[in-house]
Amino acid sequence: MHPMLNIAVRAARSAGNVISRAFEQLDKVEVEAKGSNDFVTNIDKQAENIIKDIILKSYPDHAIIGEESGLTAGKDSDYQWIIDPLDGTTNFVRGIPHFAVSIALKVKGKLDQAVVYDPIRGELFTASRGKGAQLNNVRIRVKGGKDLSGSILATGFPFKQKHNTDAYLAMFSELFAKTADIRRAGSAALDLAYVAAGRMDGYWELGLKPWDTAAGELLVIEAGGLVTDFVGGHQHSASGNLVAANPRLIKQILTDIRPHLTPAMKAK
Ligand code: IPD
Ligand code: CA
Ligand code: CA
Ligand code: CA
Repeated sequence: MHPMLNIAVRAARSAGNVISRAFEQLDKVEVEAKGSNDFVTNIDKQAENIIKDIILKSYPDHAIIGEESGLTAGKDSDYQWIIDPLDGTTNFVRGIPHFAVSIALKVKGKLDQAVVYDPIRGELFTASRGKGAQLNNVRIRVKGGKDLSGSILATGFPFKQKHNTDAYLAMFSELFAKTADIRRAGSAALDLAYVAAGRMDGYWELGLKPWDTAAGELLVIEAGGLVTDFVGGHQHSASGNLVAANPRLIKQILTDIRPHLTPAMKAK
């Protein structure tokens, strides 16, 4: 295993242990409102600090961007870690056992290493650039279907961008008519990991942040899939609008959503 992936795995497991222990005593978790319908807990923050400490102990010059603390340390470094210490906070605070730790490393702006760890199921998804993607050390691949018939897609609702509800629902109707079914499980990192593992055929969501998707994106790519923005380009980390699937299926999804994109979505 690449030494930097090894550090990421150690960090994800340490944070995951704290999260799953806290999940057993949810009444002790401190929940704070971050924005409308958006929450953070003391466990999100504690998990982020654990991850940062482990990374910085080995690589004190590297830059770290974490959801809860922004940019830390070496902002000019070629090495940039992107961390979501707890993806699926709403599930976590509600006692729904579906959330993950997400850690990605970019080297000179390119995704290089990725870990998504589900501490409840003990599922560790990993990828290294050019080396494939694994679930608990077993190679995973995206599903190969060429069209939407019989497919299961993952998605997330735009609960932080309610002004996009109509556009989102129009995309949903279009895709739902052609798929077998659609899931909204509540963790973007696991949605992408599940696409990488072939559990889902594809995934789309709007309004995401880089820490939601950085690790999951490398998992999908290394599992043979593609990740694009809503017009097939590569502005998804800037726009937060993302589609993931195998290369043939993504084409169909992009064609199907195109008529429903708002002008802002068409730009990226
Ligand atoms: C959220 C989850 C959710 C997605 C939201 C994200 P958080 O991340 O990934 O599935 O729909 O857009 O913000 O806040 O729980 O880390
Ligand atoms: Ca959050
Ligand atoms: Ca997240
Ligand atoms: Ca989070």
